[in-house]
Amino acid sequence: MDVKKSLDLVKEDEKVLSPSSRMPYFPLVIKKGYGAIIEDIDGNEYLDLLSSAGALNVGHSHPKVVEAIVEQVKNFIHYTPVYTYHEPLVKLAQKLTQITPGNYRKRVAFGLSGSDANDGMIKLARSYTGRSKIISLIQAYHGSTYGAISLSALSLNMRRKIGPLLPDIHHIPYPDCYRCAFGQKEGACGLECLKQFEIALEYYMPAEEVAAVIMEPIAGDAGLVVPPERYMKRLYEICKANGILFVSEEVQQGFGRTGKWFGIEHFGIEPDAVILGKAIASGMPLSAIVAREEIMQSWQAPAHVFTTAGSPSSCAAAVATIEVIRDENLIEHSKTLGEYVKERFIGLKNKYPLIGDVRGLGLSIGVDLVKDRDTREKDKVAAAKICYRCWEKGVILTFFANNVLRVQPPLVITKEEMDRAIDIIDGAIKDYLAGDIPDEVLQIAKGW
Ligand SMILES: Cc1ncc(COP(=O)(O)O)c(C=O)c1O
Repeated sequence: MDVKKSLDLVKEDEKVLSPSSRMPYFPLVIKKGYGAIIEDIDGNEYLDLLSSAGALNVGHSHPKVVEAIVEQVKNFIHYTPVYTYHEPLVKLAQKLTQITPGNYRKRVAFGLSGSDANDGMIKLARSYTGRSKIISLIQAYHGSTYGAISLSALSLNMRRKIGPLLPDIHHIPYPDCYRCAFGQKEGACGLECLKQFEIALEYYMPAEEVAAVIMEPIAGDAGLVVPPERYMKRLYEICKANGILFVSEEVQQGFGRTGKWFGIEHFGIEPDAVILGKAIASGMPLSAIVAREEIMQSWQAPAHVFTTAGSPSSCAAAVATIEVIRDENLIEHSKTLGEYVKERFIGLKNKYPLIGDVRGLGLSIGVDLVKDRDTREKDKVAAAKICYRCWEKGVILTFFANNVLRVQPPLVITKEEMDRAIDIIDGAIKDYLAGDIPDEVLQIAKGW
């Protein structure tokens, strides 16, 4: 594979870009994309299993999304909705109130990134409840602004030397049944992880001071950890019993990713608000908080304003994205293809002890690589080398949580494309086990 132009550009990039903002896996320099295919500047093609970190659920440059953006920018690129009104904003807000879970009147607040929407939710929850404490989960990633970093508890590097962070954010254990921090067996436990929260509420954290629990329905960057339904139901009950808002953070798992419009719908509970980003506008900058009307009425302007939030081209892209997801039955496709993909990875698990666990919902699948199935010790070297070899063979695959292969392709990917990608992953695992992937790739494949 010739990647000369790509390597040259990466050298230039390294001279001028801040190191804070990139965690590389391979030197991929994108020229164009269509469907689930990416082409680099050297003319090589790749099957995309990353979807720009889950932002491209309808695929690269879907013609309907492109048309919506082009038509909009021909009229006007932007005029701030802080002082004026525009049609795509209202149309999108109406659609969002229809597709998000919760059988109640809702309102929408827009931003530009998943991170700012998390910040906004902290402000909104405090404003509505008059309480200051916010509960997040250990291993959660919610973004990179101060509020979102304060919610996140996944990486020491992201929190080092930048404190003090936002006060009164508290973390409880995520229900990680594969690596239970309490040594319990899945399905046979007493929800010891949740007891930590109950103990806090009993002994040192007055429930009437807790504004909200902000939680991903599947912990994405933690390695696609799916919580048990009984955990979710019990946590929700605790919230309801104590006037605590339950917020589903759908930035990564929303918009059909898990085989439903939103991840929280798998658990049969109705959140008070959802946080949206990434796939909402197919890669155009946009985020949203959708909340019960009475909650949203509790804050006053200018509590949450951004000059370029809710830009007409992003809103037009988002309206088109929602229509494509609906018209092309992508939610059903995500569910059925996701089940097939999981089966195929379970087939690989039966072949390779390196794979300790396969989990996820819809096309949000994690493949957990371990040094030993009994100790479940994470195998970061295997993950880095396998992802690098996949890139060399034409598949864009990354890992998070140090060792979990992240399988989140655009929802438009076909079964044939998925089969081809999994065959290449199979080959990369064989190469790794045969010692055919050199250590030098670890200088490049850093990952999370
Ligand atoms: C679950 C989750 N929340 C929030 C964010 C932050 O979104 P953004 O990068 O758009 O600010 C991310 C990004 O990876 C995410 O995965």
